[in-house]
Amino acid sequence: MKILILGEGFIGLRLFNFLREEKFDASITNQKKLAYYDKKELFNFISKADYSVIINCSGYTGSPNVDACELNKEVCLFYNVSVPAQINAICDTLNIKFINVSSGCIYTGYDEEFTEKDEPNFGISNVDSSFYSQTKHMCEVLLRDTSAITLRIRMPFNSEIVNKNLIYKILKYDNIIDLRNSGTSIDDLNVFIAKLLNHKDFLHITGPLNVVNPGAITGKLISEYLGFHELINNKWKVVDVSDLKIIAQRSNCVLSDKKIKKLGLQLPPVLKSLKETVAKFVENYKNVL
Ligand SMILES: NC(=O)c1ccc[n+]([C@@H]2O[C@H](COP(=O)([O-])OP(=O)(O)OC[C@H]3O[C@@H](n4cnc5c(N)ncnc54)[C@H](OP(=O)(O)O)[C@@H]3O)[C@@H](O)[C@H]2O)c1
Repeated sequence: MKILILGEGFIGLRLFNFLREEKFDASITNQKKLAYYDKKELFNFISKADYSVIINCSGYTGSPNVDACELNKEVCLFYNVSVPAQINAICDTLNIKFINVSSGCIYTGYDEEFTEKDEPNFGISNVDSSFYSQTKHMCEVLLRDTSAITLRIRMPFNSEIVNKNLIYKILKYDNIIDLRNSGTSIDDLNVFIAKLLNHKDFLHITGPLNVVNPGAITGKLISEYLGFHELINNKWKVVDVSDLKIIAQRSNCVLSDKKIKKLGLQLPPVLKSLKETVAKFVENYKNVL
């Protein structure tokens, strides 16, 4: 199985390193080396190679946060919808399995733990949803009924001192909220993807998968875990979400992991992964000081 990862960002690079360590035949590229956003370029490249799986880890998340998606709608639409849809069409033509790393931020509310069968309530049918979430929903609609797999991750965290890491974000935020959300440990995501690739039914698995650690986390809980290790931000204040100075509304929800559990691919409980990851994060943080 020859795997190509597209996008050398937070998720892509860590996945690549993990798969290589686990002896998978994986390579990674970025848009400077290969213009994978260009249908013809990608087709020419892929048709001459012998990849059996393509994992798209590119996407526009907005910088410093998703509010930027409201201001750069064309870019957001291009990278979150057109590019993955183009890659999927090429994979379909060349009989390559396509995995799109996307987001579970297409639901909001606490009426239930949302399953893959639930129609997104924080996507294109909700005028109040963020543009980022709308593009993630749009992409799922385009990939529907194809052989592609969409990995819906949420609030990714690991032990590194990097801006994309939820734990580091919480440490830096002055205002934190106490709403329950699903989270995805990057280390657990990598193990999940390795197991998925080796799954006996891999080629027959299609559609969205909620790749979240079971349970829920909150910003306040992360601050408490950090506090337990005496790593605190003196300006921390727990505020209501309505007090945050944000442009776009945020998705706050818990996703069900029943589908991945049924496939035997369940991630460890979120509180266990978070506790262990915070401990490693604090160690790393203290080492760089
Ligand atoms: N981080 C999160 O909080 C989060 C949460 C849920 C879901 N996700 C999803 O997971 C996927 C990977 O996210 P990530 O956290 O790895 O994001 P990232 O670190 O920003 O990497 C995304 C990659 O997308 C490409 N890209 C496309 N347009 C870009 C632009 N205008 N600015 C910067 N990069 C651009 C770049 O690929 P090249 O390397 O080829 O240039 C970049 O390396 C995305 O689909 C994202 O929506 C992320």
